[in-house]
Amino acid sequence: MQKLAIQGGIPLRGEVHISGAKNAALPIMCASLLTADTLQLSNVPDLHDIATMRKLLEQMGVKAVAQGNELALQGGQVHKLEAPYDMVKTMRASVLVLGPLVARFGEARVSLPGGCAIGSRPVDLHIKGLQAMGAEIHIEHGYIHAQVPKIGGSGRLKGARIFFDIVSVTGTENLMMAAALADGVTVLENAAREPEVVDLANCLRAMGAQISGDGSDTITITGVEKLHGALHRIMPDRIESGTFLVAAAATGGSITLRDARADILDTILEKLGEAGACVRAEGDHVHLEMSGRPRPVNLRTAPYPAFPTDMQAQFMALNAIADGSSMMVETIFENRFMHVQELRRLGAQIDVEGNTALVRGVSHLDGATVMATDLRASACLVIAGLVAQGETVVDRIYHLDRGYEHIEAKLSQLGASIRRLK
Ligand code: UD1
Repeated sequence: MQKLAIQGGIPLRGEVHISGAKNAALPIMCASLLTADTLQLSNVPDLHDIATMRKLLEQMGVKAVAQGNELALQGGQVHKLEAPYDMVKTMRASVLVLGPLVARFGEARVSLPGGCAIGSRPVDLHIKGLQAMGAEIHIEHGYIHAQVPKIGGSGRLKGARIFFDIVSVTGTENLMMAAALADGVTVLENAAREPEVVDLANCLRAMGAQISGDGSDTITITGVEKLHGALHRIMPDRIESGTFLVAAAATGGSITLRDARADILDTILEKLGEAGACVRAEGDHVHLEMSGRPRPVNLRTAPYPAFPTDMQAQFMALNAIADGSSMMVETIFENRFMHVQELRRLGAQIDVEGNTALVRGVSHLDGATVMATDLRASACLVIAGLVAQGETVVDRIYHLDRGYEHIEAKLSQLGASIRRLK
């Protein structure tokens, strides 16, 4: 099991390139299942989750050719309409093949994801949406088996009005892809407004889809009979951006993000400002400068444009050393405070009651061995390690490799003392 050893106490300084967004690249890769032509992607991050998705698509018959951060996907020979348990259990985003497969081939078998470290995370809304579009769905042997009836019908999904009673990012993406090839108009209400949904819509439009309203809570898709190949550049990763900014703020550093997008970082930048950081955006650069101890920031996670759950853990590391107490409320996932126990091992004072954490800032953290439990919890522990006095060893960093491209190289470039122990 690989670990990261970090010598804390060095302020981060310098420039860092922001990679393409994992959560945009994953659904967009699945969009390649919607056409027999080539989908040519650029700015695809080099991450474990991307490799898993590529493997899954290849198992189905998609041809993949990668060169650096470019990836060409060609779905002309798709023959296996299945996402097996082995893949889905390692990466829940595998469920994103469901909508495209049913839309283009009228059939799919996708393993049910089951529980994961941060909560139960069901996919009932994906299933209900496809049922509303005419798919017959059975759960058999742990698999979702979806089929569009051919007898008396066209074997094609039908446009429908679908209301999400909980905002779901991948649910919106799955149904948007399904609707792109459906017969008629689909309206998704209470849809996710995340920028990654907009990036997927941009890619689908480049492939010939008719979509409007993405970025708002009502998305309208007029199905077309066929989609074609396209070129698409994956948007910058807002969570990676936020993570580096928080790391710089926590260490009292001064950094510049390159190839970032400040317009999708609003709440994150606002909270960093509240913490006492001086933040400035210029084109695709975001600068942050921080001196002294952070001020505590209260926050509540909620769907975009509110504060992202994927940044909650990193801000907890910042609040752990703040000059005062803060309250952090997690409203998206029921079990997303796994990092609290580990932060306590470094000397943080945090109490959790239900979905609320009360963080009493301490003047310093002490290095120790800690264990990563999920992707963003790992990022929180790395930030805490960068701040703590002495050495922190973060165990189980395979979680980190799922979502942060070349993290130790990037942090080293910013002056951090960090090395991988194999
Ligand atoms: C996506 C992101 C993840 C982020 C999350 C919330 C990707 C690949 N992953 O995950 O990084 O943390 O959004 O911003 O983009 N829910 C249901 N039924 C469903 C679907 C969801 O009850 O059918 C619930 C979930 O349990 C959760 C909430 O809805 O409580 C939001 O989840 P959702 O937006 O679907 O998360 P993901 O799309 O899986």
